[in-house]
Order: sequence, then C-alpha cells, then structure tokens
Amino acid sequence: MTQIGVLAGNPRPASRTLQAALTLREALAGVLGVPVDGPVVDAAVLAPAVFTDADAVKAALTELGAAEVLVVATPTYKAAYTGLLKAVLDQAPSGWLRGKVVLPLQIAASDRHALAVEVHLRPVLTELGALVPQALFLNENALPAQPADFALDSDVLKALVR
Ligand SMILES: Cc1cc2nc3c(=O)[nH]c(=O)nc-3n(C[C@H](O)[C@H](O)[C@H](O)COP(=O)(O)O)c2cc1C
Repeated sequence: MTQIGVLAGNPRPASRTLQAALTLREALAGVLGVPVDGPVVDAAVLAPAVFTDADAVKAALTELGAAEVLVVATPTYKAAYTGLLKAVLDQAPSGWLRGKVVLPLQIAASDRHALAVEVHLRPVLTELGALVPQALFLNENALPAQPADFALDSDVLKALVR
C-alpha cells in the first residue's frame, strides 16, 4: 500500500507547518485512494542531532525513504526554506528521492515570497531525484489548512503514483 511520508523542516516542534503538511498528506491520500499512513519526521526533534549524530539523521532519512510519496514542508525563512531543512537534506545520499513523488509545501507570513517554494525548495528535491509535479504555497493567514485548500492535480498524481 502506498505510504505517504512527511518531513517538516521547522526548528519549532509541532509547528503549524507540520500540521499543514499532515493536512496535505490527508488530501493526497484522498486523491490517491490510499489510507493516511507513512513515516513522519519533525526536523525540530532531530535538530540537536543534526551536526553531532549523523546516525540519527541517517535513520530518519532511511525511515522516510520507505515511503513512495513524500510531503516536504517548511516555513519561509529569509525568503527561502529553513537552514535546518537544508542541514537535514545535505545528509541525504545522492539519489535519495529517486522514483518518489514529492510535494513541497512552503508556508509564509507574506505572499511576497510565494515563489520561494518553486525557486529554492523544488530544485533541491529535484537534485535528490524527486519527481515534483506540484509545489504548494500557503499564507499563514489561511491556516489552519483543510484538505480541500490544496488544489491538487489529481490526474497527474494518479498517473505518477501507481
Ligand atoms: C527567522 C524567520 C524568518 C522569516 N522570514 C520570512 C520571510 O522571509 N518571508 C515570509 O513571508 N515570512 C517569513 N517568516 C515568517 C514565517 O515563514 C511564517 O510565520 C510561517 O507561517 C511560520 O510557520 P510556523 O507557524 O510553522 O512556525 C519568518 C519567520 C522567522 C522565524
């Protein structure tokens, strides 16, 4: 059964970003007709290990690697994604996301940075081998998000995830 994992790159634990990512996962599961199931990694929990315990980061990446589909979510920090998310992804082996469908989700306080998810996060995921059919942005004023808030491209997603 298709697993949909979540990686949230907010340094604050149990963030609105994580919550929105879980809601996007629900929306995706609905489109794909699969149960809401898969590994969830809140990078805030990993943060103390990021530069001191490579095995802990590797274990989290391996756990996420078991999912066929991933949501990678981040708040916008300084017009880009967070340094914490980059520090985690920098430890991923090359090709870590090969064959996976990955939906990036970026939250921001302002629409001024709505394209940061396309310009900054999408290329990192593509570099790791991901298929990225859509990149999603949410203004924090629209939170908490509901599954219906995500205009997912159902036909493309169903064609890519078998
Ligand atoms: C260090 C820092 C930098 C930020 N930089 C931006 C920014 O450049 N553009 C923006 O729109 N919001 C920026 N924000 C706001 C957050 O992206 C926004 O509040 C987001 O919703 C926070 O998500 P959270 O509630 O999950 O923490 C910044 C917030 C912090 C703490």
